[in-house]
Amino acid sequence: MKKLDTREEIDFLVRQFYKAVRTDSLIGPIFNEVIGSEENWEKHFDKLTDFWVTNLLNQVAYKGSPIVAHQKADKETGEKIEQNYFDRWMELWYATLDEHFEGDKVHRAKQNAQNIATFMLLKIKMARQTKPIA
Ligand code: HEM
Repeated sequence: MKKLDTREEIDFLVRQFYKAVRTDSLIGPIFNEVIGSEENWEKHFDKLTDFWVTNLLNQVAYKGSPIVAHQKADKETGEKIEQNYFDRWMELWYATLDEHFEGDKVHRAKQNAQNIATFMLLKIKMARQTKPIA
């Protein structure tokens, strides 16, 4: 079992996770619609590896705004992201972590994702209530 303490291992985690996400009947279509091409998927993997390197290895690699990205993705796909979408995301995240990794970082990756997910859904819902000025 891997320990999740190098960039290579995090890259592996990200790729395994999105393999499951892309073929999931509930949340897969959101990702495939917004990300689309293989070229964009590669960029997504790099970005998400940066994100988790920043979170788990305390190295500044990710600079971005995940909240805004999700508010936009929700609007682009018909404002249907709800709690059940996040539940499925978490289920696949936990399953991928448990299948390939062990140790402290696994716990941290689950905890971080859970905290971010709660805040993200709230921010997605808030963005829906903000109507553009005509
Ligand atoms: C139902 C749950 C989720 C859905 C449907 C979803 C969907 C997406 C999509 C479609 C993108 C690509 C946006 C783009 O390229 O324009 C994205 C990016 C991203 N997601 Fe998620 N996501 C979910 C949950 C999460 C969670 C829980 C986290 C973190 C723990 C997360 C972290 C990120 C990050 C860091 C990016 C990159 C943002 C950037 O462009 O800088 N996502 N997500």
